[in-house]
Amino acid sequence: MGEMGDIGTTVLLLLAHIALAAAGPSVIIVGAGFSGISAAKTLSDAGITDILILEATDHIGGRIHKTNFAGINVEMGANWVEGVNGDQMNPIWTMANELKLRNFYSDFENLSSNTYKQGGGLYKNSEVQEVIDLSDSVHTDGESLSTSLPSSGRSDISVLTMQRLKDHVPSTPLEMVVDYYNYDYEFAEPPRVTSLQNTVPLATFANFGEDVYFVADQRGYESVVYHVAHQFLRTSRTGAIVDPRLKLNKLVRHISQSRSGVVVTTEDGSVYKADYVMVSVSIGVLQTKLITFEPALPQWKILALYQFDMAVYTKIFLKFPHKFWPEGNGTEFFLYASERRGYYPVWQQFEKQYPGANVLLVTVTDEESRRIEQQPDSETKAEAMEVLRSMFGKNIPEATDILVPRWWSDRFYKGTFSNWPIGVNRYEYDQIRAPVGRVYFTGEHTSEHYNGYVHGAYLAGIDSANMMIKCIKTGFCKVTIKDKET
Ligand SMILES: Cc1cc2nc3c(=O)[nH]c(=O)nc-3n(C[C@H](O)[C@H](O)[C@H](O)COP(=O)(O)OP(=O)(O)OC[C@H]3O[C@@H](n4cnc5c(N)ncnc54)[C@H](O)[C@@H]3O)c2cc1C
Ligand SMILES: *[C@@H]1O[C@H](CO)[C@@H](O)[C@H](O)[C@H]1NC(C)=O
Ligand SMILES: *[C@@H]1O[C@H](CO)[C@@H](O)[C@H](O)[C@H]1NC(C)=O
Repeated sequence: MGEMGDIGTTVLLLLAHIALAAAGPSVIIVGAGFSGISAAKTLSDAGITDILILEATDHIGGRIHKTNFAGINVEMGANWVEGVNGDQMNPIWTMANELKLRNFYSDFENLSSNTYKQGGGLYKNSEVQEVIDLSDSVHTDGESLSTSLPSSGRSDISVLTMQRLKDHVPSTPLEMVVDYYNYDYEFAEPPRVTSLQNTVPLATFANFGEDVYFVADQRGYESVVYHVAHQFLRTSRTGAIVDPRLKLNKLVRHISQSRSGVVVTTEDGSVYKADYVMVSVSIGVLQTKLITFEPALPQWKILALYQFDMAVYTKIFLKFPHKFWPEGNGTEFFLYASERRGYYPVWQQFEKQYPGANVLLVTVTDEESRRIEQQPDSETKAEAMEVLRSMFGKNIPEATDILVPRWWSDRFYKGTFSNWPIGVNRYEYDQIRAPVGRVYFTGEHTSEHYNGYVHGAYLAGIDSANMMIKCIKTGFCKVTIKDKET
């Protein structure tokens, strides 16, 4: 009898649990990048466990993704924890330390000794230092100018306009490569398009610190995403996610909503119904017709989405039979000063990160990225080799392998991260995140302060989920957006 009672109680509790779950709302999350995973975990923690994550690719992590290149795992997407050693703790830095992710402080102090001329040879250290110092002082002046602008955003200017006001427009190859390193290497777009008011000073560095650490761990930077996923999704003994609430290879093509709920349709014809949907795809994807909405998104929403920029940042890895570049302290990063701004400009050698691998990384952005994505890798390799020969001489060995990620051509990304362009004020930015009925939005491009970054994606997932939870729990679903005139 006692035994029966125990079983009876267990069954009752189980039934009660099922009833409760069924009574709670159901949420579909589109995309399993860091923001989607972070939003799902936040919902789950709040007791909203009837969730379904639909991801187009065969893996989670999205733009945080490792790949094997010539025997080592390198990062195709995010590589640095940016914003460390400041007043506030970057949550990604906490995770990286918990996971003991192998990482390296990036020291850019010695660039003045490592800047190459287009025609060969190094610039004199003092000559480069002068250009760097001037660029830094113009930037510092720009910070004061930026903070003095009215918060309405009406008087926002581009970084380039600020440089003109300070009577310093970079024009020589050396000035241009230093300028590129300071702005494009961070934002993946030139100072001409980038908003001064919203990027100078940058919240990431102002709040979390100026330092950046390069993640070079064979488990991949994506470990941070798995770390969060493992906290609420069922995993097998081997650590694989086996939770049926995560569905991979599910490409969402259509989202319709009515008063009673949402219907999400995938390319393979599956139809999923839920109470709410959280869309975490990149703003680049939202600027295409990959996902159609019914009813169509309102005009204010479309304008806000289309006005923002999806930038392109391309990390080209090259493998050599042996090294021919300088090694030792203060040689990790080097610059190539071309007359053509942004032509194979910033280089990095990996003696510490991937010892013995003889791998170099060169980064290009924007127009160069789009051009390079469209040409065969053999042409890109030939171009990079020509640049390397002008830096290190004719007798260097030919690269044996090249890796050219194509984030811009990829219909699931359409670029690498968002950049804040001139002409978008706070009010319009907040409209990017604002829900439309039962359709909510998250992703790095919705982060209140940190768009474009890993921590931005993670924190945005939490914020967007909390917006939805508030609506579900209190019935208070109106999202107030600060007026543009205040
Ligand atoms: C080359 C590169 C370098 C970077 N460097 C850094 C760095 O050093 N430091 C840093 O902090 N940040 C960096 N970033 C930015 C950082 O990676 C991103 O901000 C962050 O990972 C974005 O996460 P997310 O969840 O917003 O978007 P995503 O990672 O894009 O997640 C969205 C998910 O949705 C999926 N999806 C798309 N369309 C559909 C669909 N129709 N149906 C279903 N699923 C869909 C995608 O496959 C993806 O998994 C870099 C990014 C790139 C690409
Ligand atoms: C390189 O720098 C580190 C840390 O500053 C120092 O400990 C080390 O001795 C230096 N190595 C060489 C070869 O100078
Ligand atoms: C800076 O780089 C030069 C040239 O590669 C190198 O010789 C020098 O040791 C470096 N200096 C410091 C302080 O790291």
